[in-house]
Amino acid sequence: MPGTVETIKDTKLVEGKAVEGVLGAGKKLVTIYVMGKWYQVPAGLTITKALEYLGYRLVRGVGCRAGFCGACTTLWVKKNDYKLYSGLACQTMVEDGMYLVQIPFVPAEKRIYNIEELEPNGSVVLALYPEVTRCIGCNACTKVCPQEIQVMDTIQEIIRGNIAKAARMAFDCISCGSCSLRCPAEIKHFYVFQLVRRLYGKYIAPKAKHLEKRVKEIEERKYDGALDRLIRAGPDKWRELAEKAQKDEEVET
Ligand code: SF4
Ligand code: SF4
Ligand code: FES
Repeated sequence: MPGTVETIKDTKLVEGKAVEGVLGAGKKLVTIYVMGKWYQVPAGLTITKALEYLGYRLVRGVGCRAGFCGACTTLWVKKNDYKLYSGLACQTMVEDGMYLVQIPFVPAEKRIYNIEELEPNGSVVLALYPEVTRCIGCNACTKVCPQEIQVMDTIQEIIRGNIAKAARMAFDCISCGSCSLRCPAEIKHFYVFQLVRRLYGKYIAPKAKHLEKRVKEIEERKYDGALDRLIRAGPDKWRELAEKAQKDEEVET
């Protein structure tokens, strides 16, 4: 029956039809609603796994499956709860009575700029994304961020012109768009944060000299021979080298 947690024999119910021999006896089921239809799925699955268990083929709304890419933003409500929840489907367990909807992407216009022509200051960001100044300080963005970013405070740092601080605060943003879905000021935080991180990386962060040196060596084709030898070495050698690298041991190719 929809809306209840049941323990049943080796059967799953999909849209009211019993399918025998798929669950394992005694498995606990929860009822979830997907795009308005009810289904029963084993407890303990993530939302992503539950959708696939039900036969949905995810061509949008899934990527890394590890909480990093931000592709699987999902909204839901729960039984007897007025609150609208949001989160990452690959990181959230199904709960009985969840009423789910997948968000394939959050629509937003990306402003076009050439980072080479910009200066690293707050005015540049506000010129490209003037809606940032419309922030009313409601903090709705911070409350929904699955990365626990202080989203509102980051927006305030940008308004104050503290680009470096904002870039560091927004470092973990995975562009899931949950904050933007809630924002009454219509700010598309993920694009704003991307811009401040780019400005920080290009103009403010200390340069990694060793990295510049290595990039120059690669451009001068210093490692072509080593790369060829590595490609020819095959999987056993790759595995051996990977294990050494994980132990921080010297790796020769
Ligand atoms: S800041 Fe916004 S877009 Fe970035 S991870 Fe948090 S909720 Fe998602
Ligand atoms: S949701 Fe929008 S308006 Fe509210 S604090 Fe966050 S950025 Fe500001
Ligand atoms: S699939 Fe990448 S964060 Fe969920």
